Amino acid sequence: MIQSYEEYLGETLITSERLQARIVELGKQISADYEGKDLLLVCILKGGVLFLTDLMRRISVPHAIDFMAVSSYGVGSRESTGAVRILMDLKTDILGRNVLLVEDIIDSGHTLDYITRVLRARNPASLRICTLLDKAERREVQVTLDYVGFTIPNKFVFGYGLDLDEVYRNLPFIGVVKPGTILSD
Ligand code: IMP
Ligand code: MG
Repeated sequence: MIQSYEEYLGETLITSERLQARIVELGKQISADYEGKDLLLVCILKGGVLFLTDLMRRISVPHAIDFMAVSSYGVGSRESTGAVRILMDLKTDILGRNVLLVEDIIDSGHTLDYITRVLRARNPASLRICTLLDKAERREVQVTLDYVGFTIPNKFVFGYGLDLDEVYRNLPFIGVVKPGTILSD
């Protein structure tokens, strides 16, 4: 992946303007829902980073942030296996906190299912999910999503935090991979 991203871009699915407009709406909704409450945003690395940093600028209630990294893919597979591992845990004790998970995309749901089980066992006051993208038709595990930016079709997407073999996370829009693109894992 040393080429320009245009090499791999089939089409732009969500422009930067649409992303930012929706993030303003989500920020307003979250700010209203957490008015007067303690709030901790938990971002799942690395894909959720761009979304977190734009979203938190649109949240008007005081809040803290923390990060967690998980691996959700088996070697040699682009499918989530359900075998999720914590690569980096939170620094914050979430006991009694209102936690809002910030995710880039929910696909099969295995990763989110695992993370929410781990976090619930730590007894937060509340645990809600905010995802930028929802590939709803791919779901294998039922998960409840509280805030969804966009429901998208079953296509491999990249940009705005999402990678193609670790690059192009910096693109300000969400693109669909060109058919025929060979990805290394
Ligand atoms: P799940 O466990 O199948 O829900 O997978 C969720 C994770 O898979 C996300 O956090 C992403 O890292 C990755 N993922 C799923 N679909 C895509 C995609 O279209 N582009 C890039 N990453 C994806
Ligand atoms: Mg990835």
